[in-house]
Amino acid sequence: MAAQMYMEMGDDIKMPSIGYGTFLCNDEQELETALNAALEVGYRHVDTALFYANEHIVGKVVKEWIDAEKLTREDIFITTKLPIFGVHEDLVEEFIVKSLENLGLDYIDLYLIHFPVHMNYDEGLDNPKFLKTDHIAVWKKMEEQVDEGRTKTIGLSNFNIEQVDRIVQDARIKPSCLQIENHIYLQQRELVKYCQDNGIVVVGYSTLGSPGYNSFYASIGKPTRDLPNLFQDPIVVILAEKYEKTAAQILLRFQLQRDIVVIPKSVNLTRIEENFNIFDFSINEEDMSKLEALDVGEAARIVDFGALSPKLLEQPEWPWPTFNKASE
Ligand SMILES: NC(=O)c1ccc[n+]([C@@H]2O[C@H](COP(=O)([O-])OP(=O)(O)OC[C@H]3O[C@@H](n4cnc5c(N)ncnc54)[C@H](OP(=O)(O)O)[C@@H]3O)[C@@H](O)[C@H]2O)c1
Repeated sequence: MAAQMYMEMGDDIKMPSIGYGTFLCNDEQELETALNAALEVGYRHVDTALFYANEHIVGKVVKEWIDAEKLTREDIFITTKLPIFGVHEDLVEEFIVKSLENLGLDYIDLYLIHFPVHMNYDEGLDNPKFLKTDHIAVWKKMEEQVDEGRTKTIGLSNFNIEQVDRIVQDARIKPSCLQIENHIYLQQRELVKYCQDNGIVVVGYSTLGSPGYNSFYASIGKPTRDLPNLFQDPIVVILAEKYEKTAAQILLRFQLQRDIVVIPKSVNLTRIEENFNIFDFSINEEDMSKLEALDVGEAARIVDFGALSPKLLEQPEWPWPTFNKASE
C-alpha cells in the first residue's frame, strides 16, 4: 500500500508527509542539536507553535541553514499556531506578527488556530479569562493573513467536525489542514474522512502516544496520568517483528498509509533518523485491518487541554463531548 511523500494543499503548495514535532522542546541547545540532525537526515517540515516557546530556536536553525546555502526558504515547510490566548478576531494579527518575529521569517507556510476556544491565563491557570469565541470572525482574520502574505495557507487544530464544517461552509479561503491527535487507539475515522473528502490535509499528532506527555502535566503543576504505551501493543510488537521495523516505524507508517501526515517529536538522534525511515516498506491490507481494529476512541485521548483549566470544558466551543480525564 502506497504512502505519499507530499500532500497537495492547492496553489502549488506541498506539505512533506513527515514533519519534525517540537512540543515540549524548549531547551535551546537540545532543540538546536536535534533540529540540525533532523535537517541533515532530510526532514523538510517543522511543526512549532507560539505556545511551545521555541519558535525563536526553530527560526535560528532554519536561518543558519539558509545562510549557509544548505536550504532555500522554499525548501522548508514551517507550521506555527495561533495560541489559545489569541483565539479572537482582535488578536490574530498581533500573534501572527509575533510568531513571524520569533521565527525571523517573512512568511509562514501554514498558520493554524491551535484550539477552538479562547482562554487567557495571564493571571494564572487558577484564574483564567475567556473571550467569546466566534470562529467565523476569527477565520476572516486568518484569511486576511494570507492576503497580507504573512502565511501561505491557513488551517485548524483540535476542531471537531461541526466546527470545521461551519468554517468550510462560510470560508473564502478554505482550511487547508486539520491537525488532530491521531494514533492506533484514537483514529477519528469520521473526522478524517470528512477532511479528506473536503480536500483538507489531516496532520496527526501524538502518533507515538506522546510518551513524554506527563512532563507537561508536571510543568503546570498537575498530577500525572497513566498513558497507554503504544510501543508495547501486542499487534504492534508482532508487526514490528514481521516487517523488521521498530514499533515506532509501524505506528508512523500506519498513519502515512491512511494519508495522514505525521510529525513525531524526538530529541534523540537515533530516533530522529528511525522515525524518518518509513518510506522503504509497506504494511499489507490485512495488517492495516489489524491496526484499524485497535481503535478505542475518545477514551484513548492523551493530549488534555482540560488540564489547563476545568473551566475550558464549560466553554460553548469546547470540542470534545466526553473527555475530561485529567480534570476529573
Ligand atoms: N496541535 C496540537 O494541539 C498538538 C498537540 C500535541 C502535539 N502536537 C505536535 O505534534 C508533535 C508530536 O506529538 P507529541 O510530541 O505529543 O508526541 P509523539 O511524537 O507521539 O511522541 C514524542 C515522544 O516519543 C518519544 N519518541 C520519539 N521517537 C521515538 C521512537 N522512535 N522510539 C521511542 N520513543 C520515541 C520522544 O522522546 P525523545 O525525544 O527522547 O526521543 C517523545 O517523548 C508535537 O511535538 C507537536 O509538534 C500538536
